[in-house]
Amino acid sequence: MAMTPSATISVDIAGAPYDVRIAPGLIDRLGHEVRAFVRKDTVPIVTDTHVAAHWRLRVDAALGAAGFTAQWLVLPAGESTKSWAHLAQVVDFLIGQDIERRDRVIALGGGVIGDLTGFAASMVKRGCGFIQVPTTLLAQVDSSVGGKTAINTAAGKNLVGAFHQPALVLADPDTLNTLPARETRAGYAEVVKYGLIDDADFFVWCEAHGASLIAGDSQARVTAIARSVAAKARIVAADEKELTGTRALLNLGHTFGHALEAQTGFSSRLLHGEGVALGMALAARFSVRQGLMDAHDAARLDAHLRTVGLPATLGGLDLDCDGRQLADHMLHDKKMDAGTLPFLLMRGIGQTFLARDIDLQDVAAFLDGELCT
Ligand code: NAD
Ligand code: GLY
Repeated sequence: MAMTPSATISVDIAGAPYDVRIAPGLIDRLGHEVRAFVRKDTVPIVTDTHVAAHWRLRVDAALGAAGFTAQWLVLPAGESTKSWAHLAQVVDFLIGQDIERRDRVIALGGGVIGDLTGFAASMVKRGCGFIQVPTTLLAQVDSSVGGKTAINTAAGKNLVGAFHQPALVLADPDTLNTLPARETRAGYAEVVKYGLIDDADFFVWCEAHGASLIAGDSQARVTAIARSVAAKARIVAADEKELTGTRALLNLGHTFGHALEAQTGFSSRLLHGEGVALGMALAARFSVRQGLMDAHDAARLDAHLRTVGLPATLGGLDLDCDGRQLADHMLHDKKMDAGTLPFLLMRGIGQTFLARDIDLQDVAAFLDGELCT
């Protein structure tokens, strides 16, 4: 009989280590998995309407099997839920549940629910516990791990937030079976990112298995989630609060990607992960233009993104702007440091580094060329 694939990765944060458990079927064992982490018989859960429609009954049954009753807060789905108004709603909900510091709220959903619930947990009673149960590929490989929590404001994305680590992360790849294919592909961009950062062998693995992972191969999903989480755990343990530059490596593709998301109004025209895919392709070609990277490596990335259905060029976005306008969005990047913008560039696949001497004029000229292709 074939073994069910599974993995547990420890995130070795000083003072607050935690496990990321990855296994198909975990959602149906949720009550037993959280038993050691939840002291009361009622457990607060925050989710969104899409996730609730697919998974609420299963989660109620799984918690009930371990003697828990869930208290649900179901929020609207979508990026606009990461707002002051919904933050206040989650905070009020948790206080209404009499949550204590050593209690835990469950965040069941994608990066939106995880970021919002984690931020609320960071401030209620000056910090109560939370458990991440990520249900998108993006959240399983990236946002549920590492403790970045945030909301968006009128001035920009993720501008208000806190570092607050979860007590446990439970990633069940089966939950991805109800995720729209476009969302799965977008999340996959973050998987490719780990290969590009410092693991050329993993990029080769992605070239071989990326398409079947997106199509639903459970073994490939567990492998990709485990390798991604292990890479992120290593980086976060080395630089939890992004102080030394190590954690900044996780932002590969995000500077270009964020500018494109801003230009497209943070709308469904470009999902976050699609922006990251495009951003990584642009970072690779910009690295080639700077004489840092072989054109063959950039072409390999381009080919892989296209093979799995992710964007690699600006053509499909139908942008009505020039390179300067795109580069201007970068001036509002959270990574701005004393007036300069640290840029993630590549010397090859698996060789990402932080460049601090990039002239935004060069970036704008490069983007002008990209906008014409
Ligand atoms: P999301 O949470 O909006 O989920 C995407 C869509 O999928 C939503 O419509 C959601 O309702 C739906 N959905 C979620 N799980 C589902 C399921 N199993 N079945 C059916 N539908 C499902 O978006 P996301 O891509 O998961 O996360 C993006 C957010 O994550 C952004 O706000 C981004 O800033 C944040 N993020 C945070 C970090 C971090 O380190 N904290 C890292 C990367 C991204
Ligand atoms: N997703 C970037 C980080 O967690 O640092």
